[in-house]
Parts: sequence; C-alpha cells; structure tokens
Amino acid sequence: MEVVIEPPGVIAALVADAVEGLLAAKPEAVLGLATGSSPQAVYDELARRCAAGRLSFARARAFMLDEYVGLPADHPERYRNVIDRDFAARVDIAPGAVHGPDGTADDLPAACAAYEATIAAAGGVDLQLLGIGTDGHIGFNEPGSSLASRTRLKTLTTQTRADNARFFGGDVGRVPRHCLTQGLATIMSARHLVLVATGAGKAEAVHHLVEGPVSAMWPATIMQHHPHATVLVDDAAASRLQLGAYYREVFAGKPAWQGL
Ligand code: F6R
Repeated sequence: MEVVIEPPGVIAALVADAVEGLLAAKPEAVLGLATGSSPQAVYDELARRCAAGRLSFARARAFMLDEYVGLPADHPERYRNVIDRDFAARVDIAPGAVHGPDGTADDLPAACAAYEATIAAAGGVDLQLLGIGTDGHIGFNEPGSSLASRTRLKTLTTQTRADNARFFGGDVGRVPRHCLTQGLATIMSARHLVLVATGAGKAEAVHHLVEGPVSAMWPATIMQHHPHATVLVDDAAASRLQLGAYYREVFAGKPAWQGL
C-alpha cells in the first residue's frame, strides 16, 4: 500500500494524473466512482482537464460504489443524481456509460446480482476511487461486513447517518437507513484502488486502514491485501499515522515517471 501525504490540491492533481494516464493508455477504461465530499476536488480537476482537452471520457465507462435505498428517483441526494451532477454532466462521458446499483428496484437482491454481472461484463474496474467513513467503511461496507462480500443491501450505522446528515439539511432523520453497496470483494477486484481522505475526522480510520490489523471491524483494512492500493491523505488525516515520516520520505524519493 502506498501512502501519499500531501495538501488537498496536490492530492486532486495526483489522482487526476492517474486517471489521465489510464485514459491515455486505455481510452475505454472502466472507472469506479465514489460520492461524498472526498472525491469532489478530483472531479473538479477532471472536469477542468476535460474542458481543456487534456483527457476524454468519450469511450470510458464508470460504475458507482453505492446507492441509498428509499429515496425517490428525482431526490437531489440520490447518489445517481449526485454523480450525474458532480461528474457526468461536467465531462464528455457518453450518456448511459455511468452505471449504479438501482436503489429504487422492487427486487433489490436481483438488482445487486445484475449490477455485479454488469461490472463483470465490462471487464472489471480499472481504477476505483474511494473515500473512507469515520467508522472505516469503504463503499457502504459498515463494520462487521464480510471481507468476501459482493454487492448487497446494507444498513447504515448511526455514525454514518450522522456524518451524512449534512447532505440532508442536518436532519439525521432524513438520511436513509438502507443502501446498496458494492461488497468488499467487489471493490478488491478493481485493478487499482485510490482512496482519498482529508481532515482530522478521518485520522482514526486512516490509522486503522494503513497500520491496523486486517479486520471486519475496520472494513477498509482489507485494502492491505490489494496489490495496487494508493492512499492519499492530507496532514490532518495523516496525523495518527505512526510511520508518517517514513511515508513522506518514500514519496519524496519516488521517481516522477512511476506515477501512482
Ligand atoms: C460514497 C462512499 C462512502 C464515502 C465515505 C466518506 O460513495 O462510498 O464510502 O466515501 O462515507 O464520505 P465523505 O467523502 O463525504 O467523507
């Protein structure tokens, strides 16, 4: 696992560089998209580069990590609508090329199985963007999630609902209790995992992710088993890392051609 400790603006540029490099090598690349605050600056940077003609998503496809269950199709915080607004509408990705689990389906298990099949048919995800919850979730794989899980229905923790209340006018009662999420094994099938975390609120989760024992209690720790995982954090999110000085030294000495 590579740990990069840089200011948020540098993190966004580094992740955009990785996406740009991937699309240059493989224009039909499959991207994995996260929602929430963490990838916002990355989407802003990708939109800027796309507008400047530096990269194109015209042949790319994308898969979302997760979706709330129980929100009406036109709800502004439904993740499908968030991704359309924050990413798809701002780049040249083809209509219909962005997929997400269907949280409005009558048959949710069937929708989850169909989602797994669609990801597999696309050849899997090349680069998966991730954020991390304060309780250590990735996707919406809450503590206790099976490390071998696939896309399925989950119940959000009280902590996650409280954290996400800011998107629902500060009212935790309006945050859905259930979601569909790619499982930990689904996420682990992506060829490159790129996790972004900023702010002191993420420091404990980042410490467990990077330096803790692998455990379903901190689901993101499964990333320690991935052969190509990059964790990009700012100073505040890195503040509880025991080997912070070492990670900085490694990144400072890395040849520029290596990329993430
Ligand atoms: C969102 C997702 C979640 C978030 C996490 C952090 O699609 O999968 O794991 O990445 O809850 O959220 P933010 O970035 O808002 O702090």
